[in-house]
Amino acid sequence: MIISIWGFMGSGKSTLGQYMATHYNWLHLDSDQEIEKQENRTIAEIFIQSGERYFRELETAYLKELVRKKDTYEANLLLTTGGGMPVNEENRTLLKDLGISVFLDVPFSEIARRLERAKERPLWDHTRLAAMEDRYKKRLPIYAEADYTIHTQGKSLAEIAQEIHKLSA
Ligand code: S3P
Repeated sequence: MIISIWGFMGSGKSTLGQYMATHYNWLHLDSDQEIEKQENRTIAEIFIQSGERYFRELETAYLKELVRKKDTYEANLLLTTGGGMPVNEENRTLLKDLGISVFLDVPFSEIARRLERAKERPLWDHTRLAAMEDRYKKRLPIYAEADYTIHTQGKSLAEIAQEIHKLSA
């Protein structure tokens, strides 16, 4: 079973992936980390040196490769996606081909609180919160196209992980 996790920057996707790997023995792949390994440079460097469009091409290529290999994964696999990955329609189709998709729904105020000190994210600018919220609001209906939405407010990481685990049963 492959589950992909969708959500805005700072919604806790990668943290959840690490938790599923540690506590449930799931395989965890993070698209940003995999792309960084392939390119041997950070996401920020890719944005600066090659531009966002190139990064988006890498995301789609990565997904296509994963879909091609999907039957070789025997263990449960959690794919945590970069926040912009599902925005592209082709990527959404590929993500749905992979398996179940889950949107981690976190209110914008919480996102902004978590990312206050974020430096490594090229698309996050804490001095332009209104523009950040605008992007968040535009993406919400797209994320909501995932098969499931988990409302994270008031839930612990363990509870969220349990919900994910149940989906695989
Ligand atoms: C992006 C989110 C980032 C990363 C890139 C673009 C986005 O991933 O893929 O900086 O467009 O929202 P996280 O969601 O893990 O921060």
